[in-house]
Amino acid sequence: MKKIVLDCDPGIDDALALTLLAGSPSVDLAGITTVGGNVDLELTTANALALREFLRLGDVPVTPGSAGALLPRTVRASHVHGATGLGDVRLPAAERGPSHGHAADFIVETLRAAPGEITLVAVGPLTNLALAVRREPRVVEWAGDLVIMGGSFTRGNYNPAAEFNMLADPEAAAIVFDAGWTVTMMGLDVTLSAVVTTGVLDRMRPLGRLGHDLLVPAASFYGRVTPDGGPAIHDACAVAYVLDPSLFACVPAVVNVETAGRYTRGMTVTDFRVGDRRANAQVGTSLDVKRFWDLVLGAYEGLAARLG
Ligand code: BDR
Ligand code: CA
Repeated sequence: MKKIVLDCDPGIDDALALTLLAGSPSVDLAGITTVGGNVDLELTTANALALREFLRLGDVPVTPGSAGALLPRTVRASHVHGATGLGDVRLPAAERGPSHGHAADFIVETLRAAPGEITLVAVGPLTNLALAVRREPRVVEWAGDLVIMGGSFTRGNYNPAAEFNMLADPEAAAIVFDAGWTVTMMGLDVTLSAVVTTGVLDRMRPLGRLGHDLLVPAASFYGRVTPDGGPAIHDACAVAYVLDPSLFACVPAVVNVETAGRYTRGMTVTDFRVGDRRANAQVGTSLDVKRFWDLVLGAYEGLAARLG
């Protein structure tokens, strides 16, 4: 069993990533933490709570974290994810509330209790992780692995230089990359090939309530779905990497996050010429798209059968 803590800002693709975890029997989800990102923290937390119940994740704790970036400059993506953060998805509001405390403390205490055992998967701005590192630098030793969706070595999406999660809190991202652990970075270079095509949607449609109420409206919200193109479900790539690293090619690199650039703030400056330096990142460079969708849709199909 892989023990995982998911730090997220649901977010359409965050929801699809969480659904992948929920449909993976080899995963023990130790907690969900939320951060302000795609939409405000109140909404990302409400969405995580609604998803916990819809996906029948039981009493997996949902712990809210930081409402905003370390430096007070708010960047949101509601133009991509819709006003609620979940596009056209309408789930029943959760009956149970979040856990008390702050996500950063939850991360510190959960890792302290099981050193080396927990994989952190972060698919939103890295504010909670940066705060955890600042509060307790030993989380770097205690984390089993750290996999993020964020950054890119070729391009941005929020602007030409920066990917959204990095731009939303570049200082936090810089703290996380500089902390001394190895960040597995699933950036736009790989996630933009994880696109929802008409063939993918056709496999989601028959999946009962899961397909009708969540997968189809989520997967088709932020882009036109065609036979060979469509919206990318970025965050599911970070989860897929944990489930099956062989889906991806990864290359060691030294990654620095730009915090000062006038046009390049939030850029992940990626140097593959590591030489004698310590590589602080394993950077995803390609994805086996067919096997990715087999994994993801297989998990969704199994979950749909359980949810009815
Ligand atoms: C990332 O930004 C967010 O809008 C998505 O949820 C994903 O985590 C893609 O750049
Ligand atoms: Ca996200």
